[in-house]
Formats: sequence, C-alpha cells, structure tokens
Amino acid sequence: MTHMNTFKLNNGIAMPSVGLGVFQSSPEDTVQAVTAALAAGYRLIDTAAAYQNEAQVGEGIRKSGVARNAIFVETKLWMTDYGYDEALHAFDRSMGKLGIEKLDLYLLHWPMPTQFERTVQAWRAAERLLAEGRTRAIGVSNFSLQNLDDLIARSGVVPAVNQIELHPYFAQRELRAAHQRLGIVTQAWSPIGGIARYSATAGKDPLNDPVVKDLATIYGKTPAQIILRWHLEHGVAVVPKSVRPERIEENFAVFDFRLTSEAVAGIDLLDIGARGGPPPESVDDHSFPIKIED
Ligand SMILES: NC(=O)c1ccc[n+]([C@@H]2O[C@H](COP(=O)([O-])OP(=O)(O)OC[C@H]3O[C@@H](n4cnc5c(N)ncnc54)[C@H](OP(=O)(O)O)[C@@H]3O)[C@@H](O)[C@H]2O)c1
Repeated sequence: MTHMNTFKLNNGIAMPSVGLGVFQSSPEDTVQAVTAALAAGYRLIDTAAAYQNEAQVGEGIRKSGVARNAIFVETKLWMTDYGYDEALHAFDRSMGKLGIEKLDLYLLHWPMPTQFERTVQAWRAAERLLAEGRTRAIGVSNFSLQNLDDLIARSGVVPAVNQIELHPYFAQRELRAAHQRLGIVTQAWSPIGGIARYSATAGKDPLNDPVVKDLATIYGKTPAQIILRWHLEHGVAVVPKSVRPERIEENFAVFDFRLTSEAVAGIDLLDIGARGGPPPESVDDHSFPIKIED
C-alpha cells in the first residue's frame, strides 16, 4: 500500500491529495463521517460556513483522537459575508464553530462577478488572516480564469487553491492548464460526479459510464476508485463526500494502484462539458437561500 501523497501549495504548505467533503451531510451524519474518515486515514476535511456543519466537523475531529495538527481543515467564506469587515467577522464565527485556533485553508466560496468589489475586499481580509497566521493558506472556489486574473491583478497573494466542479463529464481542461501556469492547485468538487445525481437538472452519472465500469473490472477496483485515481493522475486533489463508512473507506483506497496513460486518456475522452452546478458568473449572494447564524 503506497501512502497518500500531498500537493505542495504556492506558499510551501503541504495539502493532502484526498479529503472528505461534507456538503449536504446532516449535522448528525457529519460527526460520524469525519471520525470514520480520520480512522480510515484521511487527513483533510472540506467544509464551508454554508454547509451548516462546521461545529460537527470540529466535534468529529476532537472525537477522532487524531492530533489537530495532523489534520488539514478547510472551510469557506459565504457570499453574504463578502466585504472586508464582514469576512473577518465570518472567519471568527467559523473558527468558533469549528472550535479550532488556526485554520489550514480558507476559501472564498464563489467569485460573485456582479459584485466583484466585495469579493476583492473579502480577499483582502483573507490576505490579512494569512499574514497574521490565523490560516496557513488562502484560496478560492468556482473562479473562472477571468475571475482569477481579475483578483490577481488587484491583490498581493495568488490563491493557493481553486476548488472547482470537476469530473469525467466536466473535465475543465483549460482551467486546469491555467492553474498549472499560475501555480494554483486544482481541487475537484463533485469528483465522482455527485452533482449529476443530486442536482435539479441531474444528468448522466459518470459512475455508470461503460468506460469507467470496464476499467473498474480490468483493475479490480470500483468505478469511484477509478475516477478518483484519474484525478490524482492529473495532479488534481479531490474531496469526495460520503456519510457511509464503507464508501468513505473505498474512496480513500486509491493509493495502491496507478492507471496507465491509455486508461487516463480513455477517461479524458468522456468530457462532454456537462457542468452540473450553476454557472459561476450568474451566482451572487441572492442565488441560494442560505443564512449563516452567529
Ligand atoms: N465549492 C463548491 O461550490 C462545492 C460544491 C459542491 C461540493 N463541494 C465539495 O465537494 C464535496 C464532494 O462533492 P459532492 O458531494 O457534490 O459530490 P461527490 O463527492 O462527487 O459525490 C457524492 C455523492 O456520491 C455518493 N457516493 C460517495 N461515495 C460513493 C461511492 N464510492 N460509490 C457510489 N456513490 C458514492 C454520496 O452518497 P452517500 O453520502 O450516501 O455515500 C453522494 O451522494 C462536497 O461534499 C463539498 O465538500 C464544493
């Protein structure tokens, strides 16, 4: 069994390549999902203020018995809290809920292009939190190349990570190449195509794709493991979500095999540009009915 690899962020911090996602994990499920993941060997948990389960992530971490400094915790700033003072306040709130002193990675959840000034102010707050050592790295989520260029042009710190929708049916080839050029680590959300199964416009499910299923048979792995390995072969970090201990384990058992370049290329060909989530340029703080309580 080879060990989980890490990615080096642009400020030298190491980030585990595989983490547990907890979007849509209920508060009760979140505690046991986090403890199951940490017991299975995961060392990264991806939450967000908007997921309303930061407190349960913190509880799971404490219950796990794994040392806090061995775990990479990331959370996200929600758009209603964009702006400088608002973001600083929201960070304190998230840390209070998580019950931790220092964060590993703080992400701006969406770019909010229609109110980009507030996004930039939120980023300046994140830069301050980084400078003060309250978070070890800062990054963004759902940013297009244009959004990244606009942010970088107006700020001093290049995001360490861009967490984006990415799975075999939406492979984001150009944005990944841009990340590489800019030194930004790509972290895939819905890495096994979860959005294709739960979104209002649910589409084709990559776990049922014949190419993926054939590779699963050939390698003696599951379709989820094949897809997660495909991300890793591309140098992409992943945060698959599950609340089921057996799937949590399955999604982490991806370090004892490699895909051939032919197998990777075969999955690359499945890209049909099928975005499952909302187009980031249309998202703003009125797009989702989420209110974050103190
Ligand atoms: N930044 C953003 O805007 C954004 C947006 C969406 C998601 N995310 C992050 O990305 C994480 C993952 O994304 P996601 O939840 O959308 O999708 P995903 O991880 O691709 O898929 C999760 C779905 O697949 C099921 N599942 C998990 N493992 C499986 C397996 N081995 N075989 C079959 N089914 C399996 C899960 O159900 P069970 O739980 O029942 O196993 C769940 O319904 C989120 O939890 C969140 O942390 C970020």
